[in-house]
Amino acid sequence: MSHLQASELFSVKDRVVVITGGGSGLGRIITRSLAVNGVSKIFILGRREDALHETAAQAPEGIVIPVQCDVTSKDSLEAAYQAVAAQTTHVDILFANSGIMGPMMRSPQPKADGSLPSITEIRDELYNIPMADFTNVMNVNVTGAYYTVLAFLPLLEAANKRRAAPQQGVMSPPTAQVVITGSLAGFNRKPPFSYAYNVSKAGVHHLVKMLSTTFTSYDIRFNGISPGLYYSEMAEHVFDTEGIKGTGISDGSFPREMIPLTRGGAEQDMAGLVVWMASASGGYLNGTIIVTDGGRLAQVPATY
Ligand SMILES: NC(=O)c1ccc[n+]([C@@H]2O[C@H](COP(=O)([O-])OP(=O)(O)OC[C@H]3O[C@@H](n4cnc5c(N)ncnc54)[C@H](OP(=O)(O)O)[C@@H]3O)[C@@H](O)[C@H]2O)c1
Repeated sequence: MSHLQASELFSVKDRVVVITGGGSGLGRIITRSLAVNGVSKIFILGRREDALHETAAQAPEGIVIPVQCDVTSKDSLEAAYQAVAAQTTHVDILFANSGIMGPMMRSPQPKADGSLPSITEIRDELYNIPMADFTNVMNVNVTGAYYTVLAFLPLLEAANKRRAAPQQGVMSPPTAQVVITGSLAGFNRKPPFSYAYNVSKAGVHHLVKMLSTTFTSYDIRFNGISPGLYYSEMAEHVFDTEGIKGTGISDGSFPREMIPLTRGGAEQDMAGLVVWMASASGGYLNGTIIVTDGGRLAQVPATY
């Protein structure tokens, strides 16, 4: 029964991985998680070279390769693709993880006396935010993820061509996979932070489903991760607002009405998920969005 042991089920040995946004937050966690579990190479993409190098320094030497890239530029994506293609024959898994929150674009908040703001006040607050700010969030989160996927298709196809011929009674190894980072916000109708962000992440979830449908015939799988609250540069302001010190990963860090498990997501929560998705036993996933949120989506209505 050795094929049912955790070391076999969750093996990511020798995989070649690309991760956008690998210089910080969840991208760094994904990189660290895969790097210590036997993958062969991880190319991490992002605009800040220093942040990418900082992540690389946290992994076993030589595994993580920084590649500067702005996912909103096709020229930059193509240069990154060529840089990766010069160093590997294939890519088994692409994590399209880069994303931004953009400025606050909140739903109407009750005033101190409990009354709702007027329509004029709502209009003034939201209409004053430049359209370019809204578009920029869509540009990074949706357009950037979409073009990242397109850029790396040939190397994903090349991974499939390396798969061994099927053997009767033996589970075939996983086909190439793309994992796009969505968000709990993509399910949430009441945006605490931003209309643009929530809409962009709903778009990301639908993008995962559309791409998984399109590429079934090519054996390239598409799945999504939909995190709740994990400590990161992007999420730091939520921790500040709630008065949380540190990463908030122990029970009692957050009120239950905000996060039913009363804590934020830990590195281990994300690591276990991505190692499974990237492993042999994750090979049957396709077109799925996996929510990792401590039960927030289970609350109806979702208020945070
Ligand atoms: N943390 C959470 O609670 C949470 C919850 C739900 C979803 N998410 C999602 O998780 C993903 C990672 O976010 P995070 O929380 O880890 O925040 P983060 O630390 O701010 O990471 C965002 C990453 O995206 C990269 N990025 C931004 N714009 C880019 C561009 N134009 N080109 C290339 N890379 C770009 C950044 O790198 P550079 O600045 O160096 O380019 C950065 O490494 C995002 O998609 C986010 O929406 C996070």
